Amino acid sequence: MILVSGGAGYIGSHTVLALAEAGYRIVVVDNLSLSLREAVRAGRLVELDLRDRDGLAGLIASFPIEGIIHFAGLSRVGRSVADPLSYYESNLIGGLNLFSLAAEAAIPVVFSSSAAVYGNPVEIPIPESHPLAPISPYGYGKMVLERVLDDYGRAYGLASLSLRYFNAAGADPEGRLGEAHDPETHLIPLVLETALGGRDSISIFGTDFPTPDGTCIRDYIHVADLARAHILALDFLRREGGSHRLNLGLGRGHSVREVIEACSRVSGKKIRQAETGRREGDPPELVADPSRAGELLGWKPEITGLDEIVATAWAWHKSQRQGGGK
Ligand code: UFG
Repeated sequence: MILVSGGAGYIGSHTVLALAEAGYRIVVVDNLSLSLREAVRAGRLVELDLRDRDGLAGLIASFPIEGIIHFAGLSRVGRSVADPLSYYESNLIGGLNLFSLAAEAAIPVVFSSSAAVYGNPVEIPIPESHPLAPISPYGYGKMVLERVLDDYGRAYGLASLSLRYFNAAGADPEGRLGEAHDPETHLIPLVLETALGGRDSISIFGTDFPTPDGTCIRDYIHVADLARAHILALDFLRREGGSHRLNLGLGRGHSVREVIEACSRVSGKKIRQAETGRREGDPPELVADPSRAGELLGWKPEITGLDEIVATAWAWHKSQRQGGGK
């Protein structure tokens, strides 16, 4: 049985579906503070906050857990700068509790890390060996938890793999799940909400970056490809053990303007844009060197075109609106 913390969240819920399809039994642990129980489409849901160490220990003792995938945590980069206390308390204490219990019970851990550990990159594409210099409490917390896993590996033999996601995007290709944060801050859902008429315009945060069209470049990777990587990571850890870090991205970037154009093509709608100033803390370009994930896990993204990624998100956003959602 696999324990998935944060399995009601965006990437977590897609991974739970993928695990169920691969035949795994699942127990989801989520405090449902930022997500809905309806997003958990398989396995059993236990409503618990990871800061409740005794509750978590009881849970781990009562199920035959063979692997842990840790997604739970607050994930708004900008918010973490304004409210570091909540971010450190939630993400560090929760992560430490889970990792310490995993080490005691010798259960391998796949950890949801982030490209935010690199800060402002000095090299593009970014290899895993790039210096770690996070610029937000969110990124700093991820870096510390990666280090905790390494140290537990050395001292106690805990097997772990930290997956550094670039920009997760898209929705379940079968339309069962999608991306819905409240409040929404991510580019693609905001552009699609604008296309649906739910917003007047999309703000472009900065047009004076040192990039070909002046807007930020990101490496958008489909959430179903991310989900599959977690299963490959678990299989790998149970076979090989060790302590590893891997980038998950396509290795190709798209600018904010290109994303808006793709959303316009896919939806067939004209999307109003408003050019505003830069958002604090946005590096001009984040593109992964994902080759190691291919070598180590045999991972190969399948939904690789920007229009294809956006089309899955668009289908889901439209269905939410038609279904009386948002
Ligand atoms: N953007 C806009 N307008 C918007 C929203 C976003 O122009 O209304 C731009 C941002 O400035 C950025 C790009 O669109 O250049 C993507 O922004 P997102 O907020 O969608 O994603 P981020 O790149 O900020 O953050 C993502 C993940 C984080 C992760 C980070 C890694 O959401 O969890 O990548 O740096 F940490």
